Amino acid sequence: MKTMNINTNTILIIAIVFSVIWFSSFERCIAARGNNWRKLQTPSASSTFNVLNFGAKGDGHADDTKAFEEAWVAACKVEASTIVVPSGSVFLVKPISFSGPNCQPNIVFQLDGKIIAPTSSAAWGSGSLQWLDFSKLNKITIRGKGVIDGEGSVWWSRKISGTRPTALRFYGSDGVTVTGITIQNSQQTHLKFDSCTNVQVFDINVSSPGDSPNTDGVHLQNSQDVVIYSSTLACGDDCVSVQTGCSNVYVHNVNCGPGHGFSIGSLGKENTKACVRNVTVRDVTIQNTLTGVRIKTWQGGSGSVQNVMFSNIQVSGVETPISIDQYYCDGGKCKNESSAVAVSGVNYVNIKGTYTKEPMYFACSDTLPCTGITLDTLQLKPAQETQSSTVPFCWEAYGVLKTQTIPPVQCLERGNPSKTTIHSNIDSC
Ligand SMILES: *[C@@H]1O[C@H](CO)[C@@H](O)[C@H](O)[C@H]1NC(C)=O
Ligand SMILES: *[C@@H]1O[C@H](CO)[C@@H](O)[C@H](O)[C@H]1NC(C)=O
Ligand SMILES: *[C@@H]1O[C@H](CO)[C@@H](O)[C@H](O)[C@H]1NC(C)=O
Repeated sequence: MKTMNINTNTILIIAIVFSVIWFSSFERCIAARGNNWRKLQTPSASSTFNVLNFGAKGDGHADDTKAFEEAWVAACKVEASTIVVPSGSVFLVKPISFSGPNCQPNIVFQLDGKIIAPTSSAAWGSGSLQWLDFSKLNKITIRGKGVIDGEGSVWWSRKISGTRPTALRFYGSDGVTVTGITIQNSQQTHLKFDSCTNVQVFDINVSSPGDSPNTDGVHLQNSQDVVIYSSTLACGDDCVSVQTGCSNVYVHNVNCGPGHGFSIGSLGKENTKACVRNVTVRDVTIQNTLTGVRIKTWQGGSGSVQNVMFSNIQVSGVETPISIDQYYCDGGKCKNESSAVAVSGVNYVNIKGTYTKEPMYFACSDTLPCTGITLDTLQLKPAQETQSSTVPFCWEAYGVLKTQTIPPVQCLERGNPSKTTIHSNIDSC
């Protein structure tokens, strides 16, 4: 009986073989769980909602608003779902709200087609502040190669009157990503984040004419931890506008122009309090804009702007590359007021290129001078060889010259001003 002739060696071998089998099935189990996990990450049929399956025509004429609304209702119920707006189609969508409070997290809006806005005033009813509005979401991503087109020219030329909407707005959301898409010809601001945290914007293209009114590229307010990079922003107003309530904003590798440049503000309008802290703009190019990097505040405000870094900035044909204006007054008449939004800790490092009006303009408040302005490696020359160099302007601007600059800056006051109510402004933020 051979089978009875089992010696200890055979037992050992059998034991090893069984262990190997057991272990490999264990591994398979792990791998299978891994696959399931991966399935959650990549959309399966049951978590993908193509607007065409909800009745969207995508012919650029039919009203696809209802289809988008229904696709959203379905996607909202499923964690990590994907709404698909496919390429090759043009979807006409009226003002719409992709509203969250009860949606599952991690929704992806895969935009590969084109979404266009209606151009008849009837479609806008009594007026909407937003066209495409995403609100109260937890982890929301818009990505793809698609286009959002506000068809803004009917608004710019006042064929449609009333409040002009923002093309794409995110409100009250955490973990927002916008990537890949083009937003063009917005009625007003192209992309706005209000009361959002952990925002990432990259590889986007904003495009509208330099003379289109109030068409900010990216507009931030009351938002924290925002990164904007690898993008091209061409518009009729600020490429990036940082408003009150923003902190930890990091903008890099962005190309801006035409437009009004990178702006903090305007802040403090109608005696309001404004707080902005920790803003960095670096490795950017700016061409043919009104200003390069600027801070603008209205007289009569309170609060502060602190800890700002503008570095590695290439300007060309910019009217005023560097500007702090605490007497900002857009349109109407502004009266002189003693209170102001304090500006302190603003660093300018390695800013080079050409200007068409003046290289530097620091108009600070009489009662709250700007403090802690540092200038390091600035080379700004007139854009036209025939143009004579313009002397930098400073008023109540205090700080440090780290290096020689072109043109030389003689007007910056050294050290700190004797009158310092500035601290109470900073502390109030
Ligand atoms: C941005 O979009 C505009 C309009 O569609 C286009 O003309 C331009 O080439 C785009 N720029 C980049 C950098 O993709
Ligand atoms: C300033 O913001 C950056 C992000 O832009 C962040 O990494 C850094 O920690 C912030 N610094 C402070 C002091 O909050
Ligand atoms: C505001 O103050 C400036 C500088 O002192 C002065 O030239 C200007 O006339 C004042 N404007 C008004 C409206 O009082």
